[in-house]
Amino acid sequence: MDIKNKTILTGIKPSGQPHVGNYLGAIQPMVNLSDQASKSYFFIADYHALNTLSPNQSLGDLVHLLAAQMIASGFDYKKHYLYRQSDIPEIFELQTIFNSFTPKGWMNKSHAYKAAVDLNRLNNKDVDNEVNMGLYNYPILMAADILIFNTDLVPVGKDQVQHVEIARDIATRFNSRYKSDVIKLPNYYLKEEVKEVPGLDGRKMSKSYNNVIPLFATTEDWHNAVKKIVTDSKDNHTEESIKDTVFYKIYSSISSNEQNKKIVDQLVNKTIGWREAKDELLNIIIDRFQKMSEDYFNIIKDPALIDKILKDNALLIQPQAQDHLDKVKKVVGI
Ligand code: ADP
Ligand code: TRP
Repeated sequence: MDIKNKTILTGIKPSGQPHVGNYLGAIQPMVNLSDQASKSYFFIADYHALNTLSPNQSLGDLVHLLAAQMIASGFDYKKHYLYRQSDIPEIFELQTIFNSFTPKGWMNKSHAYKAAVDLNRLNNKDVDNEVNMGLYNYPILMAADILIFNTDLVPVGKDQVQHVEIARDIATRFNSRYKSDVIKLPNYYLKEEVKEVPGLDGRKMSKSYNNVIPLFATTEDWHNAVKKIVTDSKDNHTEESIKDTVFYKIYSSISSNEQNKKIVDQLVNKTIGWREAKDELLNIIIDRFQKMSEDYFNIIKDPALIDKILKDNALLIQPQAQDHLDKVKKVVGI
């Protein structure tokens, strides 16, 4: 799809340190997409995060981490918009209006709520155990996030498609009730499927499996991670057997085709062993992620500057939000 003339908008809940899998599967594609779009709104969904925040997590710190991650990863906040959801209060007023137009039944069918209910049933607990209203109303807030800014496209992974469809349904219902076109209908934009990056133990690289190569780290951290990659003690390898190893699957997610070919040849011909191969992987990680990491560590040192960037960006777009909210309020008679 040509997104050159489109306004795209997406948000992420702040959730701590990303790994190389998150970068290749989510952050980098988002930054590339923004580079192509005419306008890109990227926000840190701090009110969404409140639903699931544990008491020992500081929401403020998590917001700073995510903003620094996006800036270090190349999100161009001078051309596009990087902001904190809570800095645009118009979103929450719009959500209140949408609450009146959204059938409760739609929320019952929303997959995040359904998943929580199903889990409770499975564990013989009350269906609404630990379900807060934030989780239940999540899709309505998400609709307000999207619809406040006349968004054309919402880049999301498969798990979020239903939420964008609900936003579209809310917009349609609102417009038809008032015979107006004040709310623009958005579409989802399915992110290109990126091959899953395996973790150090061969399962999907994931925070929950503790098997990650951290994205923002020191050489020592990366060295320690690479050391843990599972290898085998076979004497002889073929091209196929090398390609089947966890090492190669990780290596090839990060490296170029030439580098992949070279390392397979070297391992098959035994000009290098696993130790040298791991050194080579470490060098590639350093080449690819060290500069970004240094930028990240520099940015995160200055939370006041991060706050200023987020606030300045929010101030640039708040008049649009205010103007759109005024139009919606006028339509409903407020
Ligand atoms: P985690 O499993 O570490 O908790 P998340 O589920 O928070 O990661 O994923 C956030 C985003 O990062 C998702 O959009 C997903 O597409 C991407 N992602 C996560 N893990 C990987 C991986 N191993 N390979 C590719 N992309 C990934
Ligand atoms: N629900 C999204 C997620 O969990 C985050 C999000 C909140 C979002 N509001 C949004 C994404 C609006 C796109 C548009 O990943």
